[in-house]
Amino acid sequence: MCGIVGYIGSRPAYEILIKGLHRLEYRGYDSAGVAMLTDDGRLNIYKSHGKVADLENFCNAQDLDGCAGIAHTRWATHGEPNDINAHPHLSRSGRIALVHNGTIENYTVLKEALEQQGYEFKSETDTEVLVQLIEYVMLTNGCQLVDAVREALHQVIGAYAIAVVDTQEPDTIVAARKSSPLVIGVGDGETFLASDATPIVEYTDKVVYLNDGEIAIITRGKPLKIITADNESAEIDIQTLKMSVSQLEKGGFPHFMLKEIFEQPRTIRDCVRGRIGNSGSRVTLSGVIEHADVFRRAKRIIIVACGTSWHAGLIGKRLIEEYARIPVVVEYASEFRYSNPIVTPDDVVIAISQSGETADTLAAIKLAKERGAFVYGVCNVVGSSIARATDSGTYIHVGPEIGVASTKAFTGQVTVLTMFALAVGQVRDTLDREVAAKVVCSIRKLPELIKQTLKLNDKIEKLSDTYTYVHNFLYLGRGYNFPSALEGALKLKEISYIHAEGYPAAEMKHGPIALIDHELPTVVIAPKDDLHEKIISNIQQVKARGGSVIAVVTKGDTTIAEIADHIIEIPDVPESISPVIVSIPLQLLAYHIAVKKGCNVDMPRNLAKSVTVE
Ligand code: M6R
Repeated sequence: MCGIVGYIGSRPAYEILIKGLHRLEYRGYDSAGVAMLTDDGRLNIYKSHGKVADLENFCNAQDLDGCAGIAHTRWATHGEPNDINAHPHLSRSGRIALVHNGTIENYTVLKEALEQQGYEFKSETDTEVLVQLIEYVMLTNGCQLVDAVREALHQVIGAYAIAVVDTQEPDTIVAARKSSPLVIGVGDGETFLASDATPIVEYTDKVVYLNDGEIAIITRGKPLKIITADNESAEIDIQTLKMSVSQLEKGGFPHFMLKEIFEQPRTIRDCVRGRIGNSGSRVTLSGVIEHADVFRRAKRIIIVACGTSWHAGLIGKRLIEEYARIPVVVEYASEFRYSNPIVTPDDVVIAISQSGETADTLAAIKLAKERGAFVYGVCNVVGSSIARATDSGTYIHVGPEIGVASTKAFTGQVTVLTMFALAVGQVRDTLDREVAAKVVCSIRKLPELIKQTLKLNDKIEKLSDTYTYVHNFLYLGRGYNFPSALEGALKLKEISYIHAEGYPAAEMKHGPIALIDHELPTVVIAPKDDLHEKIISNIQQVKARGGSVIAVVTKGDTTIAEIADHIIEIPDVPESISPVIVSIPLQLLAYHIAVKKGCNVDMPRNLAKSVTVE
């Protein structure tokens, strides 16, 4: 949550900063701010509540001079989203400006200590405490910015990625991180920094991922320098980005979410490339092969994740138990970390995260490692904190996901978990060859099957007219598609603000059936599978009580077509692959309802893409 950007070089900083903020807006959009530093030490600082566009409007009439600067887009934690609480924050004298992503947990203690020294605070933020502390240390110790930052950070408990400038050192930006991401872009005579690589990619493909506890000293005209918290020189590992600018644009679609839904034939192709061949049933996941012994002797798998990634984990459980015959438990990372869980060195923990930055998932990994488990990551963002904190893993390779509602990352996660289950089954010799051949063949066909399923878009758009103004929705599914019901409900509620619940279809009669009346539509996920007859009974139970049913069925299912109010026909696929296909119409339904309601689907209220706070 929150995005930070920085630039120092010879170009006007404002345009780079504002463009960078637009790229990071998915991380938070409560308020935004920029500070440009001129060569002669003037600070042009502007802030605005609301979105980056509001800041831009405000800045149009301002002095935007300066070839160095820092900027911020905020997801509010401490203090309401207003102009005063917006970053950058200034020190008492006005010479130091700072932007921050994270949470300073001991800010009250630090604030009280500074107040006793006569400091006064304008905002309600934890961040202002940090910038005042840096100035206090600087004045007390008579030191320069970098030493003041290093010393101040020794006193801080919490998570941070910060960028700091000082009017007395106009050629320098100091940046530091702990538990919040920070990437530095190394250009030709210019340096960029950002919460992720998206603001950097159009200027340079050379990046350095700052490690926890490191401080970067970025000085105009000098090579990048990185030190540790103990003032030791740290290694600089320059990596090459594999990302293109076109991946970060809407490409003619009205929203990133719709673009990302339609990208799925390609993203799934990228996800499976090199992992399954054009023929045969072999799955090659290097993360599994290189640690075959760990998976051979594993007694249990614990999946930790949040939100959509947790739903993918529930599907992963069934896949792994089916193909690799290892018992699996799926935990919300936020619950796992505080539950004093029983974790042993015989356990493998799988952490699933699109962003690779989710604070609860990171904390769960730390705990699992302390207790001796081997940790396997399933991430999208290359070089992210989770990808780096895990012992091994598989990237889903679906490219940047910008819409706050996860779509292509979910199908990528489920696809990777399918391949993972098969790969571990190979290693443990639990896999029936015929079954493996059938599933691998279906994975191979997934891009084409998704393409066919996307043709439902027009039909679903029309269908959404009927349901735009309902207040509640029920989603039912069984087996592999119970998690699909949860995910369908989450998609709808997060972008359209319609209350929606996902339930295992057979559980409906134990309570939720009481809700059914003519005002409550039910989405029933009912492709042809072993439980097909049972789910037909569930549909009849809804119909008998006056509820309307939208059924997602296998093409040609005439039985359900006769009883449901609306049917959405998907291609015939094996049950274990069906959640990937089923998710397409559910994503489209949520999208069209939200658009018709006039909601901002890419930036739904109160949400942020990467949840780096508890
Ligand atoms: O980046 P992660 O996969 O760790 O994020 C987990 C959740 O915050 C995320 O899936 C969230 O639920 C999305 N808004 C779902 O669309």
